[in-house]
Amino acid sequence: MRVLSGVQPSGALHIGNYFGAIRQFVQLQEAHECYYFLADLHALTTVQDAVRFRPLVRDLAAAFLALGIDPGRSVVYRQSDVPEIPELAWYLSTVTSMGLLQRCHSFKDKVGQGVIPSHGLFAYPVLMAADILIVGADLVPVGRDQKQHLEVTRDVAASFHATYGVEIFTLPEPLIRDEVAVVPGIDGQKMSKSYGNTIDLFAPEREVKKRIFSIVTDSTPVEEPKPTAGNPLYELLKLFAPPEDRDWVESAFAEGGTGYGDMKKRLLAYFLDTFGPARREYERLSADPSEVEAVLSDGARRVRETAAPLMEGVREAVGIR
Ligand code: ADP
Ligand code: TRP
Repeated sequence: MRVLSGVQPSGALHIGNYFGAIRQFVQLQEAHECYYFLADLHALTTVQDAVRFRPLVRDLAAAFLALGIDPGRSVVYRQSDVPEIPELAWYLSTVTSMGLLQRCHSFKDKVGQGVIPSHGLFAYPVLMAADILIVGADLVPVGRDQKQHLEVTRDVAASFHATYGVEIFTLPEPLIRDEVAVVPGIDGQKMSKSYGNTIDLFAPEREVKKRIFSIVTDSTPVEEPKPTAGNPLYELLKLFAPPEDRDWVESAFAEGGTGYGDMKKRLLAYFLDTFGPARREYERLSADPSEVEAVLSDGARRVRETAAPLMEGVREAVGIR
């Protein structure tokens, strides 16, 4: 199967992004032909500051590689290096009805969060359809919030086929991992960069420590059992504890005698055990951007080998050239 997914370089990667997305990308490489890209054109709908943006793109590329996305097995590229993508998005937009886009939740959600209601934000699902259709992806691993965009992609592809009487595109399926729970942030809401409640994967250790020690807890005394329902510290400990420590986590909460401060120390140790190797690799890659750049330019070359012939067919179908 051909697998494709993208992540927007719109902020530092956090624990939620890893457990909710990147970990699965890494696993899928074992059995599939994978395409993973930095969705930088998409991110311009929210980050409109070149000085802040440039390092975000570079850092996300280093993070992909450090976390185990392997350019020897997957095609890793930057969306803006593939001019066929915005070109395809235009052809698709001419067969996409306004109504289809007006029904998308993400536009309303983002505007609700204060993002400028630009045409780009409104048309975003069409660009996402182009990302997916350009490589003929069968499977697209995404979070539940993106499921509707996969439906749009299928509708847009079908509309192109119906308009031009051709069958050019592969209709993709979303791959939604139901067992991946939503990772809570330090305030107990869903961890998200828009809520400022993240624990970032590659932040300096003292920053990670500060964030972990800011996880909200109640005032249960040390000797008493601690509540687990809706307790982000419990959820995060369960996410990170190695199998041999899972009983420790359960009994620390159920039996009392362990204070929240000690639990947070444990969580920090688990975090550093889990991400230590990736954090060191990230440091190494960040010190020499030329290695990451070489991976991205090779990725762009490889994806264009697939995109270029597809675009020939699309131009032919619409009567251009
Ligand atoms: P954010 O909410 O921080 O802006 P994004 O929307 O950029 O994150 O998400 C990128 C990927 O990470 C998506 O596939 C999304 O489903 C996943 N993800 C983000 N936050 C979480 C979370 N708290 N729990 C699980 N997965 C998450
Ligand atoms: N919209 C996705 C997000 O916000 C990112 C994305 C852009 C994407 N293009 C994609 C994901 C294509 C999968 C396939 O998380």
